[in-house]
Amino acid sequence: MSWKSFPKIELHLHLEGAADPAFIRGLAAEKSMDISGIFDENGKYKFDGFNEFLTTYENATQALKSPEDFKRLTQSVLENLAENNVVYAETFISPDFCGDRDLGAWREYLAAMREAHVEGVTLRGIVTCIRHLGPEKAREAAFCAAETAGDWVVGFGMAGAENVGRAKDYSYSFDMAREAGLRLTSHAGEWCGAESVWETLRDLRVERIGHGVHSINDPKLVEHLAETGVALEINPGSNVALGVYPSWIDHPIKRLRDAGVKVTVSTDDPPFFNTTMTREFEELESAYGWGAEDFKVLNETALEVAFCDLDTKEVIAKRLEAL
Ligand code: ADE
Ligand code: ZN
Repeated sequence: MSWKSFPKIELHLHLEGAADPAFIRGLAAEKSMDISGIFDENGKYKFDGFNEFLTTYENATQALKSPEDFKRLTQSVLENLAENNVVYAETFISPDFCGDRDLGAWREYLAAMREAHVEGVTLRGIVTCIRHLGPEKAREAAFCAAETAGDWVVGFGMAGAENVGRAKDYSYSFDMAREAGLRLTSHAGEWCGAESVWETLRDLRVERIGHGVHSINDPKLVEHLAETGVALEINPGSNVALGVYPSWIDHPIKRLRDAGVKVTVSTDDPPFFNTTMTREFEELESAYGWGAEDFKVLNETALEVAFCDLDTKEVIAKRLEAL
C-alpha cells in the first residue's frame, strides 16, 4: 500500500543532500558555472561508491552560493517533506557550505533558511561539522553552532568520511556544542565498524548515532545501545543505494529493533539515493511486513529522541494524532 498520507518524522536529512539535481543545475546556469560532470545522461547525480558520492555532493554544493539560494533550497525541501506527510524534520546544515564558517555570514544564511515556511511541517537544524575537513574547521563550525544555539538550532553533529582521524580529535568541538546546550549526534558505523560507534559514544558523548548499522556486528554494543537508549538514525534506502548492504532484506534494521535498540528511519540525501520517506515505509512493509502499528512506534521513538523542546514535541504529537 502507499504510506504517503501516513504522518512521519524524519531526523537525518542533509539539507544540501536534499537538493534536486535540476535545482542545482538551474543555480549553476544562473552563475555560468560548469558543473555538468556531476550529472549522468539522465540528469541525475553521478557517483560510484561512498568517496565519489562525497565528491559529487561537495561539487553540487558549489552552486549554492548565497543565503537566498539556501532559502530557496529550504523551501523546496519543506515542500517535499509536506508531499510525504513528514510533519517534523531535523536537517543537517553546515557552516562549511554557508560562508566558510564565518560567524557573521553564518547568521545570514541561517536567517534566510528560517524564512522558508510550509504550513504543517516543523523544521529544526542540526549544525554539522565535516569530519574529513579536520578538527580545526570542526571547531569553527562548532563555534558557529554554539553562537546560534536556540529554539531552531537544536543540535550539533558530524558528517563526512568516517575513516578520517579519530573521534577524540573532535571532542573539543562536541564539548563546546554541549556547553552551549546543544544536543549531540554523529555519523558512525555507516562505513566503519562497530568500534567506530564505541569510540564515538565514548569520546563525543552523543545521544544519537547517524546510521550506526554496523553495531549489529557486536552483540555487546547492541546490548549497550538497548540499555542506554542511544537511538540510531537509520537510513536503509541510503545504505542499500551505496552498497553498504546488498538489499533491504539483508539490512539489520529489523534485527536492531528486535534487540531493543531505538531505531528511527530517514532518507539521508533523497535525490542522491532515490529515497523518500514514503518509499522507505513501503520498502519496510515489503521487506519485513511492517504496518501501521510498527510505523506508529517508529514515529513515537523519533519524537522521543528528537532534539526540539517539549512544547514543540506536544504540537507534533497532536499532529501525529490528527492525521
Ligand atoms: N554527508 C551527506 N550524506 C552523508 C552520509 N551518508 N554519510 C556521511 N556524510 C554524509
Ligand atoms: Zn547522513
